[in-house]
Amino acid sequence: MTPVFVFVTALLPLVHGGLLLGIPGARLAAGNTSVASSFSRSVAPVSTSTSSADFSISSTLPTSSVAGIAAVPRKRAAIPACLKTVELSCLNLAANCIDSVNAGNVNTLWSIKSCVAAGTCYGVGDLITSVECQTGFIVTNSAQAALPTSIYNGIVMGCTSCAITQQNYIDFYYGQLTAVNSANFPSSSAVVKAFWSVITTWAATGSTVPYKNFNDWLHFSSFPVTTTTTTTPVTTYTQITWNPNPAPTSGAVSETFVTSTITVIIAIPTATTSVVVGGTSITLAPGGTPINSPLPPGISIPGATTPTWNPNIIPPTSVPSVTFTAPPSFTTIVAVPTASNSPPKNITGPPGDKNSDGNNWWLLLFPGVIGGLLPADIGIPGGVKPTAAPPPDWTGAWTDPDPTSTSTHNSASASSSASSSSSSCPQPTGAYSLSDDAENSDWDGLGSDPDRRRSNVMTIAARAGRSMTLPVCGIDTANGNVITNPNTVSLGAGTYYTIGTKAAGGTSIALNPIVVNSRPVGNGAGTVAQEHIFEIGYIRQFFESINSQSISCTWIVNNVYNQAGWDGRTWALSLLQEIDQVPNMVWVDKPMNQAKSNVVNRNKATAADPPQKANIDKISDFSTPVSVNSIQDVEYFIRNFAALGTYFSNTAGRFQATALRVQNRLTQITPNTPDVNLPVAFNAWLRSLLTNYPSGCTSRATNVFNYYHTKMTNIANQHNSVVPQCFPLFPTGINPQSFTWQNLVPPPPTLPSCNIPGTQGTWQFGFNPNGSPEKGLATFRVMGAGRSDFYGFGTGADFSGAHLVAGDLSTTPGCANGAVSIGLTGPGVPAGLPDVLLSPQCNGQSGKQTVPISFVLNGQTLSCASIYTNQSVTGNQGIIIQIICAGSAAVATTCANSVLSSTYPTGHLLTGSMTFIPS
Ligand SMILES: *[C@@H]1O[C@H](CO)[C@@H](O)[C@H](O)[C@H]1NC(C)=O
Ligand SMILES: *[C@@H]1O[C@H](CO)[C@@H](O)[C@H](O)[C@H]1NC(C)=O
Ligand SMILES: *[C@@H]1O[C@H](CO)[C@@H](O)[C@H](O)[C@H]1NC(C)=O
Repeated sequence: MTPVFVFVTALLPLVHGGLLLGIPGARLAAGNTSVASSFSRSVAPVSTSTSSADFSISSTLPTSSVAGIAAVPRKRAAIPACLKTVELSCLNLAANCIDSVNAGNVNTLWSIKSCVAAGTCYGVGDLITSVECQTGFIVTNSAQAALPTSIYNGIVMGCTSCAITQQNYIDFYYGQLTAVNSANFPSSSAVVKAFWSVITTWAATGSTVPYKNFNDWLHFSSFPVTTTTTTTPVTTYTQITWNPNPAPTSGAVSETFVTSTITVIIAIPTATTSVVVGGTSITLAPGGTPINSPLPPGISIPGATTPTWNPNIIPPTSVPSVTFTAPPSFTTIVAVPTASNSPPKNITGPPGDKNSDGNNWWLLLFPGVIGGLLPADIGIPGGVKPTAAPPPDWTGAWTDPDPTSTSTHNSASASSSASSSSSSCPQPTGAYSLSDDAENSDWDGLGSDPDRRRSNVMTIAARAGRSMTLPVCGIDTANGNVITNPNTVSLGAGTYYTIGTKAAGGTSIALNPIVVNSRPVGNGAGTVAQEHIFEIGYIRQFFESINSQSISCTWIVNNVYNQAGWDGRTWALSLLQEIDQVPNMVWVDKPMNQAKSNVVNRNKATAADPPQKANIDKISDFSTPVSVNSIQDVEYFIRNFAALGTYFSNTAGRFQATALRVQNRLTQITPNTPDVNLPVAFNAWLRSLLTNYPSGCTSRATNVFNYYHTKMTNIANQHNSVVPQCFPLFPTGINPQSFTWQNLVPPPPTLPSCNIPGTQGTWQFGFNPNGSPEKGLATFRVMGAGRSDFYGFGTGADFSGAHLVAGDLSTTPGCANGAVSIGLTGPGVPAGLPDVLLSPQCNGQSGKQTVPISFVLNGQTLSCASIYTNQSVTGNQGIIIQIICAGSAAVATTCANSVLSSTYPTGHLLTGSMTFIPS
């Protein structure tokens, strides 16, 4: 049977010969003011306004994925969201550059003069990130052609063999601004000199920079500042458990254990077993390898083989060729042998490159396997670098067979730090012990992270579940008003972001994603945290923000915190649970977690009071173990802070996906009063918050380094000495990483600007032939429909209550495919009918507005015709309004006229637009 909805006057019992399936209770009624005298058959369907820019029609929620962003058609103009915030003359150059890039020149960026100029002020890595954002191309530095000598000649005024002077650079920079018709020039030449100074410092060739070094700067100075969210193939890391104990050779039938006094021989075990040798119990895996702890000293297993670790990067599988890279500019692409009897390819690395066997060559074998050992600085884009981890239940000593792989893949810095530490420098200890800044100890108020162990109280809170509070509204933990996730969500297998261990030392800030099966060892017990990328505390920060913009605590508490949502959970709990999910978690070293807290909590923001100030202040000398350990901890912390921008960048996808879940949850809320459009306000708040994060990362990293540097210098001066060369970061400094904050934010909702959820009012269906308006009696409410494009409409308290749905009329005589009758959900109405959404035609206005409304079904804007009848002739007393809609006005009108003549012979169609009149 075809469901048909009618809106009837208040007293009408709705029984209609089985044809009509209506809405018992008759909550919606036409007014009793209208008197039909004569009527016109002309029908004025609701204007569809297909050209209106306010509405886009989409049957799905916008996705947050990078693929979705990349699919946006590219405009021939710089996309503002692709640009970072910089000095305006520089921004003009960058905009001109990214606008100039196309498929034909994407690998010859440095043949575009504005790109060369932009690279010098904007940062090469950031510029490439912006190019990728603008074009959707994947841009690699190694693929970029060299700076053409013609451009270089222009910079050095035709003196090809000369190095670039500061004056050359200033002239080039201003010349490019003129060439791109820049609207902005630097406020003074000091601005440009500062750009140049960064380059001369990097090049370390004095006050001028020769071609080779300038070209190197363009290719290697800061790429990649921000990797990822793109599919750029980089070497990733995977953790493999490493049992260093000897294993019996395959085919052996017995296993022999020998001490100085006894010999024990057993059959090769086929199940986990244990053997007692001289009073010591040894657990053996099937096959006979000792597990869980090192083979006890004094016991050997003759004939068993001690495994050797293969540190080679594993190339991507099933590829026709493998790319090998090495800094600064070595790239070679080698075809994979095609058959098992094809000769191996013998590859020679860049001059001077040697593997641990002293060779400069290695082999590529069928079907894409490395033979021999790769030199340590060779990379394979898309390859996987194995790193070793102790087996899960391992106790006792365990030695990393390849410590460099877990610390850094920048062999240059690794080897230089190794050579400089050959003197009597104390090696870093494994433990990292800097305490948190006191400012971050109240994090519970912002939402506890899974692994926070700030205090005993915190430990209890963390174990009891994730909580958040809204102290600004008088809710605080002391009173027990905490919203807690009753489910414990824990990260097991996942991604571990690390710059390597503190013990490896060095100056690297290269952040590597390592896939792990469980909590990594990191720098020792309690030094690796499972972290929420999108913080739980953002919920409180957001509501504090709207509270400060005159949204009352009562409103927030009644409409969100304590209000049950569609599924019975309070909105606050469902928001918390959108965040507290494994996909929003990664493993991260404690110092990175601490650095992020400084930025997220917006504290320790000045040069005089930088992050970790208290611990830096405690450093008193360069030799006592306590001070040395603190200095090493501080250097490790600073390196983590410098990599924080990359961490934000690398986790942008998780951040954005979680933010979108929160935003989508907010689209479901229908408050009592329309004081704020929550998903729209959330997106705007998040944008304004994140705008400050890139500089929040770089300025704090710079501040803490400078504070540390000053402290060390002061200690040296006090002792009339110099800072020992044992602290590698001290002389080199850091280049803190920035990131593109836009990649973290979901697309803003495209919701209508007026009559936001919570607005109540009257639905005017149209006009009677005598010109009198026909209005519903019931109060209708604009609802959050869980959509970022349109609202819901109905008489329920929210969208889980009575709201508009569509019943199919396509089999009703006179009605074509796509014709529907729209009405409210409720008793007697079949479940599962598609929702009808509301599109008020705000025309740029906000607030409560009396405006025409149209309806949207499955992404299509409907045209509707309203039937009016005083149904007294069939025994049902009262006025009936039936609304029939379709994708086209013709289909809706034809269907409505057919229903009119067959069912409501005394009725007529209303004319004019359907309108919402807020109360
Ligand atoms: C319907 O009529 C009654 C009685 O005249 C009146 O009080 C009421 O306001 C009318 N309702 C509407 C919606 O006009
Ligand atoms: C509907 O019809 C009944 C019976 O003829 C009449 O009493 C009533 O006034 C009519 N109502 C309207 C609004 O025309
Ligand atoms: C690979 O080439 C190097 C140098 O060309 C040579 O010394 C080495 O023996 C070759 N290795 C094999 C396995 O052919």
